[in-house]
Amino acid sequence: MSKQPLLTDYNLNGLKLPNRVVMAPMTRSRADNPENAPREDFEAEYYALRASAGLIISEGSPISDEAIGYVNVPGIYKPAQIEGWKKVTEKVHEKNGRIFIQLWHVGRMSHPDFHNGEKPLAPSAINPNAQSYTPEGFKDTVTPKEMTIAEIKQTIEDFKNGAKNAMEAGFDGVEIHSSNGYLLHQFFNGTSNTRTDEYGGSIENRAKILFEVIDAIKQVMPEQKIGLRLNPSLDGPFGMTMDKETIPTFDYIVNKLNEYDLAYVHLSEPFTDVSDNEFAVSEIAKHYRPLYKGTLIINAGFDQEKGNKVIEEGNADLVAYGKPYISNPDLVERFEKGVELTDWDEDTFYVPGKKGYLDYPVKARD
Ligand SMILES: Cc1cc2nc3c(=O)[nH]c(=O)nc-3n(C[C@H](O)[C@H](O)[C@H](O)COP(=O)(O)O)c2cc1C
Repeated sequence: MSKQPLLTDYNLNGLKLPNRVVMAPMTRSRADNPENAPREDFEAEYYALRASAGLIISEGSPISDEAIGYVNVPGIYKPAQIEGWKKVTEKVHEKNGRIFIQLWHVGRMSHPDFHNGEKPLAPSAINPNAQSYTPEGFKDTVTPKEMTIAEIKQTIEDFKNGAKNAMEAGFDGVEIHSSNGYLLHQFFNGTSNTRTDEYGGSIENRAKILFEVIDAIKQVMPEQKIGLRLNPSLDGPFGMTMDKETIPTFDYIVNKLNEYDLAYVHLSEPFTDVSDNEFAVSEIAKHYRPLYKGTLIINAGFDQEKGNKVIEEGNADLVAYGKPYISNPDLVERFEKGVELTDWDEDTFYVPGKKGYLDYPVKARD
């Protein structure tokens, strides 16, 4: 019997992956300590348990105080955080795993409670009318402050610094979080970016910050270790609204990414049903595969069968699993041996403590 496509090896621009099963980035909010640093008996243990993944992408990690938008998320801009992440990468590598960190700025999805009452930063002063997960629970988002050019330049610098810190912490690469309605995605869409300067107006201008972030990060690490994430047909969640220029903007971005030799582009299929949405593309992998010459990771709603199929059909190279990885640390071995998956418990996604974090069963590992 030939091997399942998901279980075949893959060369990720120089990094050898033993299989094509990727752990998707997932915020777990377990860094409830004063420095928001990862810890040996929490994050390190959690990721090491999942080291048989072809590639782990860490939870979103804020690159500055301004970038934070959720409680207890481990950052990548303070010395204690770098030390904490070192424990994570060491433990994952000890188990022969590979791990990228997701570099994150939430922009207008943040809340004044994280910034001593100051407004969060965004491309334009437009409230996403969503909810932010603050230390006092979910609160309505506010109208953010439009970033000055100096604040944009500082943010690009913060991404670069986050990447430099990530290298020091021993990560195998970084994923730029340019997805899911957070800061960089807010720049891409005309409904969240109404700027009239060099960062707004045309498609090229709205995409510009992403390329400046990549170019800045390239100064501190090889581009072959840089990946990024996009969610082109996001409409509704995280305050994002599509319009007629949304898909052309993502098409422009993906085409231009061919000028780089990146680790990968990580795409999400639509998070909601967009079949009635005239502006959306409903089959993201199919649409973007012909446009991008490098490695494509596809995510959202995949099970084992669909994952094998999308690779077999040539529409993606790797498949990222989110929720299944929360409750199945040995997801790869379960796929290998055909062992039934354990269900996840949404109530413990973001709460402190080891319950729902370190107590899911490992069933298929020898
Ligand atoms: C608890 C939880 C936390 C998440 N946090 C992040 C995150 O930090 N960064 C990100 O890009 N996506 C995040 N996501 C989205 C997942 O990466 C993924 O896109 C989503 O769960 C769909 O994939 P799935 O159907 O395999 O779960 C999160 C999802 C969940 C369930």
